[in-house]
Amino acid sequence: MGFWEFLIFLIFLKLQNSYSCNIFEGSWVFDPSYPLYNSAICPFLRTQFDCQKNGRPDKFYLGYRWQPTECNVPRFDANDFLRRFSDKKILFVGDSLILDQWQSLTCMLHAAVPMSNYSLVQRLPIYSFNFLDYNLTIDMEWHQFLVDIDVEKMGRILKLDSIKGGKAWKGYDLLVFDSWHWWFYKPPNQPWDFIQVGNHTVKDMDRIEAFKFALETWAKWVDSEVDPSVTKVFYQGISASHYHGTDFGKPEAKGCNRETQPVMGSKSPAPPSPGIEIVKSILNKMKNPTIFLDISLLTQLRPDAHPQIYASPQLTASTGDCTHWCIAGVPDIWNSLLYALL
Ligand SMILES: *[C@@H]1O[C@H](CO)[C@@H](O)[C@H](O)[C@H]1NC(C)=O
Ligand SMILES: *[C@@H]1O[C@H](CO)[C@@H](O)[C@H](O)[C@H]1NC(C)=O
Ligand SMILES: *[C@@H]1O[C@H](CO)[C@@H](O)[C@H](O)[C@H]1NC(C)=O
Repeated sequence: MGFWEFLIFLIFLKLQNSYSCNIFEGSWVFDPSYPLYNSAICPFLRTQFDCQKNGRPDKFYLGYRWQPTECNVPRFDANDFLRRFSDKKILFVGDSLILDQWQSLTCMLHAAVPMSNYSLVQRLPIYSFNFLDYNLTIDMEWHQFLVDIDVEKMGRILKLDSIKGGKAWKGYDLLVFDSWHWWFYKPPNQPWDFIQVGNHTVKDMDRIEAFKFALETWAKWVDSEVDPSVTKVFYQGISASHYHGTDFGKPEAKGCNRETQPVMGSKSPAPPSPGIEIVKSILNKMKNPTIFLDISLLTQLRPDAHPQIYASPQLTASTGDCTHWCIAGVPDIWNSLLYALL
C-alpha cells in the first residue's frame, strides 16, 4: 500500500468510527422466520394481549421484523439474555404500555426455556416474575405518572415534584420507564383531584406542561439516586395509538380495527407525538446516561398490530383497542432493540 492509499485508508477508518447508526430509523419488512416465539405456549399471557386466543383471524401482523435503514440489529437471543441476566433484577415502571413490554419479555424468555421453573406474583402495584433456575427477577410496577399521588384531606394530589415512589426502584440492574397516555385523562378516569407544582395546588393545568415538570423530577431522581456503574436506565419513549385514519394515512378509516398490514416505508403519514421533543430534551440534559428507546416511528407505522376488537374473547365490534399491542408482536421488537443496545 502506498502512502496516499494508506492515508485514504486511515480517513476511511476515521469516518467509519464517527458514524453511528440510528436503529430507530427504518421500516418493517416481512420475514417468515417471525414471530420470535409462539405465544400459545406462554401460560401467563394476559387476555388483553392474547389476540390469537381471542379469535383474531389474520396472522400477517406477526410476521414483521424491524429493519433499520443503515445497519442491522442482532436477532433477540433469549438464551444469551438469560445467561447475561442470571442473578440480576430488572424493573419496568410505568403504565399499561410498560406492562405490554414486560409481558413480551417474560413470554419471549419463557418460550426459550419452557420447562424451567418460574414464579409469578401479581399483587398490584407490582407484578413480579422470577426465572428460578436463572435467579432472574423481572418486575413491573404500575406507576403511570412516575411522580407521586398522595391522598390528603382535600383529595388525591398529583405532586409533580415529589417522587417518593422511587425508593422501590433501587437495587435493580436494569430499569425501564414510560409515562405519557395517562396525562390526558379527564374525570372520571383521571386518578387525581388536584395537581401540586412547587408550592401551588391547582385544580388543573396544561397537561403537556405537567408531564414536562414530572419528567424533570424523574430525571433529577435518576441523576441523583442511580449509580450508573450498577444500573442501566432506559426510557421507553412514546408508543403511538391509531384511533383516527389520519394517524396512518387512511382518512376514511374509523380506527385500527380493520388493519392487517403495516404502513410501508420509513415515513409516518402523521407527525410525531408532541411528547417526543420534551422527552428528548430532558434526556439530553441528564447527567447519568439514560438510553432512549425511541419507539415513536416504529409504532406509528403499525396500525395493524393492536389488539383491535380481539382484546377480549367477548368481541365488541363497535370499540377496539388501538393503543396496546398484541403479544407476540411489536413489543418483542422493543425488547430486541433494548437487547441490541445493552
Ligand atoms: C440471586 O440474585 C440476587 C441478585 O439479584 C443475589 O443477591 C442472590 O445472591 C442470588 N441468589 C443466589 C442463590 O445466587
Ligand atoms: C424446579 O424447582 C424445584 C425446587 O426449587 C427443583 O427441585 C426442580 O428440580 C426444578 N425443576 C427444574 C426443571 O429445574
Ligand atoms: C415554598 O414555600 C417554602 C416555605 O413557605 C419556601 O421556603 C420556598 O421558597 C417556596 N418555594 C417556592 C418554589 O416558591
